[in-house]
Amino acid sequence: MTRTGFGIDVGGSGIKGGTVDLATGELIGERIKIATPQPSTPEAVARTAAEIAAEAAWDGPLGITLPSVVTNGLARSAANIDKSWIGTDARSLFSKALGRKDVTVLNDADAAGIAEDALGAGRDVDGVVVLVTFGTGIGSAVLHNGVLLPNTEFGHLEVGGKEAEHRAASSVKEDKDLSYKEWAKEVSRVLEAFENLLWPDLFIAGGGISRKHEKWIPHLKNRTEVVPAALLNTAGIVGAALAADKGIAP
Ligand code: BGC
Repeated sequence: MTRTGFGIDVGGSGIKGGTVDLATGELIGERIKIATPQPSTPEAVARTAAEIAAEAAWDGPLGITLPSVVTNGLARSAANIDKSWIGTDARSLFSKALGRKDVTVLNDADAAGIAEDALGAGRDVDGVVVLVTFGTGIGSAVLHNGVLLPNTEFGHLEVGGKEAEHRAASSVKEDKDLSYKEWAKEVSRVLEAFENLLWPDLFIAGGGISRKHEKWIPHLKNRTEVVPAALLNTAGIVGAALAADKGIAP
């Protein structure tokens, strides 16, 4: 019998959910996507998450990601989401909205890292795997032999006098109208700072822009191998479902 889980990935523009085959990481049925309510307050986001679980008729344990530092179910930061998340007991809020106790809440990049490491681009790699997501901001996940060190937040590391995500998020490429080659130079610089601190065995590049990896990964000048994410727009959903299943609750 297929073991299934359920994940919900909360992003700045969309909230996505789906039923996950926990052995393969494939979605069973469709990915449900609802636009993130604006303003993206905790109550509004929790209502949308409940709508998604109801639409899928999911009635088991589930995982939910946030673009925030999450410790013990509490959202601690809000770089690209409504500031009222800071200090919110996200686990209790989602539990109430969804009418169930077994809700796991974790950082979005951490969820994607768990999924890519277990079932995606990092599945056969031992050692230290670092997933970096390039989107509105930069998210990071650090795993050592499959074990996550949660809430690393390398997107906020200062690199050459600027926060890494202000230098090399994919939103910066759009805002400044950079070519892939110009943007890749900034990405190299940021990854160089990360690799000097962590000496990873592998970088996995995630976020929407990793779909166009052939346009920019070849321009990177890093000593660490960089591969594109394999699960692309489902990594957050899959990782949230895996985290709930394995009881990984930062
Ligand atoms: C946030 C991280 C998040 C990343 C990607 C950053 O600005 O601080 O928590 O993982 O964006 O959404």
